[in-house]
Amino acid sequence: MKITAIRTHLLEHRLEVPFESASMRFDRRAHVLVEVECADGTLGWGECLGPARPNAAVVQAYAPWLIGQNPLETERLWATLYNALRDQGQRGLTVTALSGLDMALWDIKGKHLGQPVSVLLGGRWRAEVRAYATGSFKRDGVDRVADNAAEMAQRRAEGFHACKVKIGFGLAEDLAVIREVRAAIGPEMRLMIDANHGYTVTEAVRLGRAAADYDIDWFEEPVPPEQLAAYQAVRAGQPIPVAGGETWHSRWGHGAALTAGAVDILQPDLAGCGGFSEAMKIATLASMQGVRVVPHVWGTGVHIAAALQFMAAMVPDPVRAAPVEPILEFDCTHNPFRQAVLTQPLLPVAGMVAIPSGPGLGVEVNRAALAEYAMGAA
Ligand code: NI
Ligand code: CA
Repeated sequence: MKITAIRTHLLEHRLEVPFESASMRFDRRAHVLVEVECADGTLGWGECLGPARPNAAVVQAYAPWLIGQNPLETERLWATLYNALRDQGQRGLTVTALSGLDMALWDIKGKHLGQPVSVLLGGRWRAEVRAYATGSFKRDGVDRVADNAAEMAQRRAEGFHACKVKIGFGLAEDLAVIREVRAAIGPEMRLMIDANHGYTVTEAVRLGRAAADYDIDWFEEPVPPEQLAAYQAVRAGQPIPVAGGETWHSRWGHGAALTAGAVDILQPDLAGCGGFSEAMKIATLASMQGVRVVPHVWGTGVHIAAALQFMAAMVPDPVRAAPVEPILEFDCTHNPFRQAVLTQPLLPVAGMVAIPSGPGLGVEVNRAALAEYAMGAA
C-alpha cells in the first residue's frame, strides 16, 4: 500500500451576522479538509484546526515525505513529518497540519482493515456521547446578554444537557451574561464558561469567585495559553475547575501544562494536537495525574467524526460502574457546510450523538458540498 496524492480542500462561508470571541472576530467560517489518496484507490480524510490557507500550505509542504510511503505506518510517518520541520516547528501550524494528515492516515488504516478507528485505538467503550452546546458569541448589532440567554434557552429546548458561554469582554457584562443564562436554562442544565484567553490573572480570579455562585462546571482558557504560571494562579485563586488545551500542541505542549498543574480538565483537539497518534499519548499523560480529558472540537463533520472515534476509545478514569463520561463539544454557531461535507450528518438526538461504527472515521465526504463551499467559489 502506497500514498500517491495529498490534496487539500479549502472551504468558506461568509457570515451574514459576524460574531466575536474575546480574542477573535469571525466574519466568515473557513476550514480546510485534507484528502490522502492511495494507489489502490483508498481515500483518507482529515481536518486541520486553525487558518485554512496556511494549514493547507504546510500540509502540502509535508507531501514529499509522504508520497510513496505506506499509510498504515502511522507512528513512523508522524515522527518523520514532525522531525522534518521540528527545528522551525514543535507547535502551531507545523502540528495542526500534521494533525490533519495523521487523521487521514488513521481513516485509511481503518478502511483498509475494515474497522472503525476507535477499535484500532483500543476499543469502543461507548456507542454514543452526550453533546454540549457551544455558542453565545458576541454577535454584531444585538444585546449580548439577552441574545446569549435566549440562545441557551433554545439549546435546552433542543435537548442539550450542558452549554458553554463566551466571556472575556469585561467583568460586569460577563457576570450579567452568566447570571441571565443560568436563569434562562434553569438549575439542572450544566453550564461552562470560556474566556478564550481574554483575561488577566486578576480579572480571571475576580470573575471566577463571583461566577461560582452560578454552579459552573469549568472555566475555560481564562488566561493566555503560554502563561502556565498564570493558569496555576487562576486555579489557586478561585473555586471553579480550570480547563484548557485547544492551543497546546503535541505531547510536549500538553505535558508541560500537566506538569505545571495548569488545569483540572485538559482539552486536546484532534485536528490541532497532532491527530489520533498524539491524542492517545496526551490522554495517557493526563491519566497519570487523574486529569479529565474533554476534547476540543471546532470545525466540520470530519473533525466531529474524528473526535467521536477518539471519544469512543477513551478509557474511563477510573473504571467504575457509573464512570465519568466524555462529552462532545458541539458548535452551534452558523456554518452551513459543517454537516453538509458529510453524506450523513452527525447530529444530536435528544442531546446524544451516535458514534459511527463503519470503517475508518465512519463517515463519507460529500464532494458536492466541497465544490459548493470551495473558498472563492461564491
Ligand atoms: Ni449563511
Ligand atoms: Ca474554547
